[in-house]
Amino acid sequence: MKKIILTGDRPTGRLHLGHFVGSLSQRVMLQNSDKYDEIYIEIADAQALTDNADNIEKIRENVIEVALDYLACGIDPKKSTIFIQSQVPELCELSFYYSNLVTLSRLQRNPTVKQEIKLRDFETSIPVGFLTYPISQAADITAFLADTVPVGDDQLPMIEQTREIVRSFNSTYGNTLVEPKAVLPENENCLRLPGIDGKAKMSKSLGNCIYLADSPEEIKRKVMSMYTDPNHLKIEDPGNIKDNPVFIYLSAFAKDEHFKKYLPEYKNLDELKAHYERGGLGDMKVKKFLNDILQEVLEPIRNKRCEYQKNIKEVYEILYNGSKKAREKAILTTSKVKEAMGINYFEDEDLIKKHIEKYQ
Ligand code: TRP
Repeated sequence: MKKIILTGDRPTGRLHLGHFVGSLSQRVMLQNSDKYDEIYIEIADAQALTDNADNIEKIRENVIEVALDYLACGIDPKKSTIFIQSQVPELCELSFYYSNLVTLSRLQRNPTVKQEIKLRDFETSIPVGFLTYPISQAADITAFLADTVPVGDDQLPMIEQTREIVRSFNSTYGNTLVEPKAVLPENENCLRLPGIDGKAKMSKSLGNCIYLADSPEEIKRKVMSMYTDPNHLKIEDPGNIKDNPVFIYLSAFAKDEHFKKYLPEYKNLDELKAHYERGGLGDMKVKKFLNDILQEVLEPIRNKRCEYQKNIKEVYEILYNGSKKAREKAILTTSKVKEAMGINYFEDEDLIKKHIEKYQ
C-alpha cells in the first residue's frame, strides 16, 4: 500500500508557534524523511467558511498568509502538493455521500466540535455546515487515500470519525477507502502549547500568540511579557515550572546546544529547572534564554517568508498547480467511490444490458 499524507489548516489567520510545534515541524520532518509516496497539504478554506459565512474577506486574505507560512517553514512544493480545498469540488461530492453514513447524534458527540460550539456561543443556532464539517474532513482525508494525518491533538476526534466513516463505507459498499491514522508530535510539551498569557492554548482569538511572521522586536516583547509563576516574586523564592509557560516552551524548544551557546553555566534543561524550583533564579534570565532560542528558530523562517513575499505570483502558481494535481487524485477516488456505490450508470455496461433484456 502506498504511504500517503494528508493534512491541513483553516485559513483564518497567520500560523503561530503552537501550529509550528504541534504539527508544522512534524510535517516538514515527515516530508524530508522521503518515506512517503505522496504528500498533500490542504488550505481548508471551505471548512473555514463553516463558521465564517459572512466573512469571506477574512478567508480570502488568509489563504495566501497560510501558504506563505507553509513555504517559510520548509514545506517544499516539489515534494508536497499544497492546495486550496474549495478548488477540489469532488470533496463536496464525497461529503454528500458520506453524510448518509453518519447520524446526527454522532456529530453532536464529537468533542472538538462540542467545544468549538461552546466557544462560539452557537448553542441554539449552529450552522449545519459547521456541525457536519467532520464529514467534510473525512472527505479531505479519504479523497487522497491518505493513511497518515499529522495533526495536533485537538484533531484526534476528527480522525476517529473519519475512521468510522471509512469502516462504514467499506462494509456497506465494499473495500474502497483507506483508514487513516493520526501522527502526533513525540514531545508531549508540543501537543498543546499554552499562550504567552498562560492560558491553556495559544489561539488567535485569545490574542496570546507568537506568530511565525513576528519581527524580532515583537518576539522579544512577547517573551519578556510572558506569564510565569505568579508566586515567584523575588529571585530567591522557589519557583513552579509546571504551569509555567516559559518552561513549557523551553521543554518544547531548548536543546543542549542552546545551553552551550547562550547559557553555558547550565548543562541542560533539567539543571535549569532544578535551580528555578530551588529558588535563586530570576524570570528575566530564563526569558532572555527563551528569547535567544526563539529568535534562532524563527529567523530562518521569517527570512524565507520574506523571499516568497516578494514573489506572490509564484506562490499563487504553486497553489494553482497544487490544486490541479490534488483534483486529479480526488477525481480518481471519487470515481472509485461511485463505482463501489453503483452510481456509475454510464460506465456500467452490465446494468444497461440488464435493462435492455428486461424490456425485450
Ligand atoms: N480541522 C483542521 C483545523 O481546524 C483543518 C483540516 C481540514 C484538516 N481538513 C483536514 C486537518 C484534514 C487534517 C486533515 O485546522
